[in-house]
Amino acid sequence: MQQNFAVRSLQCLTTKIPFMKIISVVGARPNFMKIAPFIRAIADYNSRQSAVDSQQSAVGSDQLPMTNTPSPLHHILVHTGQHYDDRMSKAFFEALNIPNADINLGVGSGSHAEQVGHTMIAFEKVLVDEKPDWVVVVGDVNATLACSVTAKKLHIKVCHIEAGLRSRDMKMPEEINRLVTDRLADLLLIPDRLSEENLLKEGTPKKNIVFVGNIMIDTLETNREKSKQLSISEIIKDNSLLPEPSSSERGKGDFALMTLHRPSNVDKKEVLEPIINFLTEEVANDMSIIWPIHPRTAGRLKEFGLWEKIVANPKMILLHPIGYHQMLRLNMDARIMLTDSGGLQEECTVLGTPCLTLRWNTERPITLREFGGASVLVGNNVKQIRDEYHHTLKLDRTPQRPEYWDGETAARCVEAIVNYEK
Ligand code: UD1
Repeated sequence: MQQNFAVRSLQCLTTKIPFMKIISVVGARPNFMKIAPFIRAIADYNSRQSAVDSQQSAVGSDQLPMTNTPSPLHHILVHTGQHYDDRMSKAFFEALNIPNADINLGVGSGSHAEQVGHTMIAFEKVLVDEKPDWVVVVGDVNATLACSVTAKKLHIKVCHIEAGLRSRDMKMPEEINRLVTDRLADLLLIPDRLSEENLLKEGTPKKNIVFVGNIMIDTLETNREKSKQLSISEIIKDNSLLPEPSSSERGKGDFALMTLHRPSNVDKKEVLEPIINFLTEEVANDMSIIWPIHPRTAGRLKEFGLWEKIVANPKMILLHPIGYHQMLRLNMDARIMLTDSGGLQEECTVLGTPCLTLRWNTERPITLREFGGASVLVGNNVKQIRDEYHHTLKLDRTPQRPEYWDGETAARCVEAIVNYEK
């Protein structure tokens, strides 16, 4: 065994196959669709390398056969536990075939400082025990920030997938998470060319930036066919928040699809109430509105006394948070999307769904119509939302495919890590 390992180590030196321990981190729902293809790409890389190894050992007959040798990339998945509900977390692991997390930090809800603080304390112990070569973080949630800071303080290399996005809105917790993570990261994997400009302006060395494309689209392409098979009325029936005997009849014909969870939209009654009035008194006259409700938003609607108004309107179809395939299926047929989610803006671009983004800015300008995408910023001012709503209804569905949004991003991420040179 000893001798076997020595032969293999020598071979690694000559063929430059790395042995690396990689810890990747997920915390909240939008991370899960980004990590699924990355984990698959690691497995693919390992099987390609083991095929190369077997060929080499077959050729070198004077060498010992290399059975039971470790995979070149050893991967550990850490879930911080920021999102913990079955519908916000477990359902995505199952649907996207993500293996169970090796380690769950069980951080749960709390203020930003509590979430970040608890994550750092727990993650530091993991890093001290595991001593990885790399920590890979995705997106812009609290887990992304907490784990990159913790890793860098222990001199562990950090790779950020989805680097370089900037909303320039410092009131957005995600913007702070992005800025800190990108400032610390050793390897910044960007989804589009606009992100490179952002990073270069901030002084990031060009050699640390690699354009890999959008990893979310890997997941979309992998799951497109499966999603197509789903029935919209079944999705409504299975996920309805309210007991509705006639729900299987609902959702027929045109419908708007809606999501809303950002604190800037849902935490103040004076912002949320006019939006609810617009939906129930205007959009609902044109079509049904299917709305999978985020737990934060459901809580606020009840707190502000707006829940009853929504529930009383038969055109409002309220759902629990739904699974990945269900959301993709609804998005494929929606007449219009109203959302404040970054990921949905991207999916609308590829599916061509006309999208109203209920934000004043976006870190994803490539999804906007002026850059070739399907979405337009409407903020949370109802006059602007109304104007764009009527204009958008005249638009056709026009799918777009920005450069490298091709379903192969995860493989490029793994290659970038393996080929990283200090
Ligand atoms: C987080 C991310 C945001 C992402 C969003 C998608 C940060 C700073 N924000 O926001 O970028 O777009 O997720 O969902 O990381 N809750 C549950 N069940 C859960 C998870 C949360 O009931 O499984 C409740 C919490 O108790 C809390 C609220 O939802 O009251 C908000 O959760 P939180 O994790 O603080 O942030 P999100 O708003 O989900």
